[in-house]
Amino acid sequence: MQDKKTQVKQMFDAIAYRYDFLNHFLSAGVDVYWRKKALKLTKLNKDTILLDVACGTGDFAIEAKRIGVQKIFGADFSFNMLRLFNKKSDWIVGNIFQMVAEKLPLKAATLTNITVAFGVRNFYNIPEAFSSFHFALKEKGKVTVLEFSMPTNPLIKMLYRLYFRFVLPVIGRIVSKDKQAYTYLPDSVEEFDKSIDLVKLFYDAGFKAVQRHNLTFGLVQVVIAEK
Ligand SMILES: C[S@@+](CC[C@H](N)C(=O)[O-])C[C@H]1O[C@@H](n2cnc3c(N)ncnc32)[C@H](O)[C@@H]1O
Repeated sequence: MQDKKTQVKQMFDAIAYRYDFLNHFLSAGVDVYWRKKALKLTKLNKDTILLDVACGTGDFAIEAKRIGVQKIFGADFSFNMLRLFNKKSDWIVGNIFQMVAEKLPLKAATLTNITVAFGVRNFYNIPEAFSSFHFALKEKGKVTVLEFSMPTNPLIKMLYRLYFRFVLPVIGRIVSKDKQAYTYLPDSVEEFDKSIDLVKLFYDAGFKAVQRHNLTFGLVQVVIAEK
């Protein structure tokens, strides 16, 4: 049995070439709105120095660039995801790095903001990653996490489960040709929702103020933690 780090890295390396298409298709394009909303809640400005961790093919960082952020860096451990980001956006070349969230090789207090979209659920050690974020941020710096959650309304939850269990894995398997990735997605979302309290983990890592927002019936959460 491989460890989570190896498993997740191999999975994203394998599905990278289909990732963007499936992302937009399986969420009916709502993922674009979720990223925009998460960045709006974060209130970035012209002095922002942003590291998008688990940047993948770059959609969160690209949105940050679109709304005017000048200094943007990307980090991810999947080489194939980063390669696609590079191809998509020539402005980022030289500013993206293959690194793990749990051990960012940065000096203390170098960033004003860290963003992570749909990445935290996949980290192999979330407390370690949050400590590493805390170290790399300046005072008052913020981490913004956008992540799936389970809706609380019973009807929406049932419909969501039906979609997640019976529709998404089938389409995901056919398009990505990966047997596991789109079964891992619903499994990991349910498990994450049951067992991980991001707000508590941020406080444990030393952050001083943490806010949580639910979007779209609680299908996703935005958690913003300030150092
Ligand atoms: C679901 S994708 C999200 C990509 C992008 N942020 C987006 O919004 O589309 C998750 C990404 O997290 C990366 N990842 C997972 N665990 C990681 C870790 N421990 N360190 C660095 N990257 C990680 C994967 O390689 C993958 O590219």
